[in-house]
Amino acid sequence: MSDVPEPTAYEIVVCADPEALASEAANRFVTLAREAAAAHGRFRVALSGGSTPAAMQRLLAAAPRKQQVDWQRVHIFWGDERFVPPAHMHSTLRVAQETLLNHVPIPPSHVYPVPTAGVSPDEAAAQYAQSIHEHFFPAAPRFDLIILGMGPDGHTASLFPGDEALTGDDGRLVTAVTNAPKPPPTRITFTYPLLNQAAHVMFLVAGEDKAQTAAQVLAGAYDPHRYPAQGVHPANGRLVWLLDQAAAQDLQN
Ligand code: 6PG
Repeated sequence: MSDVPEPTAYEIVVCADPEALASEAANRFVTLAREAAAAHGRFRVALSGGSTPAAMQRLLAAAPRKQQVDWQRVHIFWGDERFVPPAHMHSTLRVAQETLLNHVPIPPSHVYPVPTAGVSPDEAAAQYAQSIHEHFFPAAPRFDLIILGMGPDGHTASLFPGDEALTGDDGRLVTAVTNAPKPPPTRITFTYPLLNQAAHVMFLVAGEDKAQTAAQVLAGAYDPHRYPAQGVHPANGRLVWLLDQAAAQDLQN
């Protein structure tokens, strides 16, 4: 059990259904992109794998939101990636290309895929961390927005229950996972030090199968080794949980 951190100020928004959640997430993406571009000329966002964020990505690729974002100022990273070739069915990059990147005028040099070819998982993690450091240099790597999902077991990104080595206590910002219970088993993932340095973190959680875990994560005892999503609490950032009614049904009002 980690020392319980100071509670992060966070917002919980319950949306009627997955479609409403995706719409709310897309609207917040647009708002944050415009704010970051106005504030410092760039919007650095880390996308997530999974089906829930994909619905948001499809909305961003279509009118009217597509026209509301200055894509020339957007820089796309991934909070985690499956260690598979880009064309693989499990590739988060491939899903992002199909649902968003192939449909918006973002410069290719602004897309930072996790390396998954010709390197070991550990080399991929080290190279990705280096590319993140270089992008933000000389400032510390502080994403304007990190989008996350949550599994029914409380995992987020590719931080799974019991994986104590992955939390970044060793200072690594990005690490490799080789035994993920959610296939594929080998993944590259941000760790808590990088996740918790973000200006904004937005969880997208839909479905009845996550209701019990969502209630535990949001209102239960603090135990990020058991519920990794609990370990995401940006020290100097804003945290928002977007849930649909099915995922929020066990939350006390
Ligand atoms: C992945 C994600 C993973 C995902 C959750 C929720 O690579 O699959 O990083 O953490 O966000 O498993 O997935 P859904 O949104 O599809 O339920």
